[in-house]
Amino acid sequence: EMSPEERAFQERVDRGEKIEPKEWMPEGYRKTLVRQIGQHAHSEIVGQLPEGNWITRAPTLERKAILLAKVQDEAGHGLYLYCAAETLGVSRDELMEKLHNGSMKYSSIFNYPTLNWADIGAVGWLVDGAAIMNQVPLQRTSFGPYSRAMIRICKEESFHQRQGYDIMMKMAKGTPEQRAMAQDALNRFWYPSLMMFGPSDKDSVHSAQSIAWKIKINTNDELRQKFVDQTVPQAEYLGLTIPDDNLRWNEEKGGYDFSEPDWSEFFEVIAGNGPCNKERLGARVKAWEDGAWFREGLMAHAEKHGKRQAA
Ligand code: 3HC
Repeated sequence: EMSPEERAFQERVDRGEKIEPKEWMPEGYRKTLVRQIGQHAHSEIVGQLPEGNWITRAPTLERKAILLAKVQDEAGHGLYLYCAAETLGVSRDELMEKLHNGSMKYSSIFNYPTLNWADIGAVGWLVDGAAIMNQVPLQRTSFGPYSRAMIRICKEESFHQRQGYDIMMKMAKGTPEQRAMAQDALNRFWYPSLMMFGPSDKDSVHSAQSIAWKIKINTNDELRQKFVDQTVPQAEYLGLTIPDDNLRWNEEKGGYDFSEPDWSEFFEVIAGNGPCNKERLGARVKAWEDGAWFREGLMAHAEKHGKRQAA
């Protein structure tokens, strides 16, 4: 049974009003936002690692400049989202601590390796394509700072997806070796990209409440279906084959029928046992420890500066 405040709050959400940080909100709403926005921010930061791995090995100066710009964008996306999470009373240090000790997650997709340049095309095309599918509806989320962060982030994401698809086009229409690399990258990134949308709706523990609070606008399966329907024609244009023998257009559904990912693999990956989890988290912990001296210096300077001001 809802309390009067909870009912008034729900009516605000149902009217499509934006909830701002200082306004009353149920504790569960705040906690869900910290979890989702914090993990979204972690995804942006950890997501820099697979692509960062190829900045020094990009095939041309132009591709290097494009990839560098994209990885820098992701860092900015992470900062917008950490700032949105901080408006809910959680500190940056607390969020980082929880990422490093495994009590907060980041997107499963970043636990797969980027083995060659075609993977950078597949990541831009599929991973950023899926991220766009997920983030565009989130522009309408009920929490003001998250909605505004999403609007800014979505402006930059289309470039991320297009540059990846451009790499795939170049390789799919290149030499037989390049085509084989593009097909191999699609084979390895297809199912992990479907997993980005989360478990199937029947296994999604947060969806019902998150949709009621407009923290989530669509269900996991809805967005996964939209992603498949949009991506299959793009693969056909490239002359590449989606690695799914059950894929076929279903006229009355108005969408494709397709094989689900291996959910046991998904739950293993988000439990920390994916191909690259230890490497990715190790890289983040090392960066945090290597940067301690710099943070301490900044704080010491700020304190000294503060004392001078006060004196
Ligand atoms: N990777 C890791 N964990 C996942 C996951 C995934 N792909 N999908 C679901 N989970 C976790 C959930 O976080 C939850 O665990 P928790 O309680 O410890 O947080 C559990 O699995 C159950 O899943 P639910 O569907 O019940 O959870 P949600 O309602 O939170 O839905 C979500 C999951 C769809 C990812 C939702 O949290 C969401 O939309 N988050 C914001 C978008 C986001 O994080 N996108 C990351 C994509 S990568 C990215 O944006 C970078 C881009 O620039 C490339």
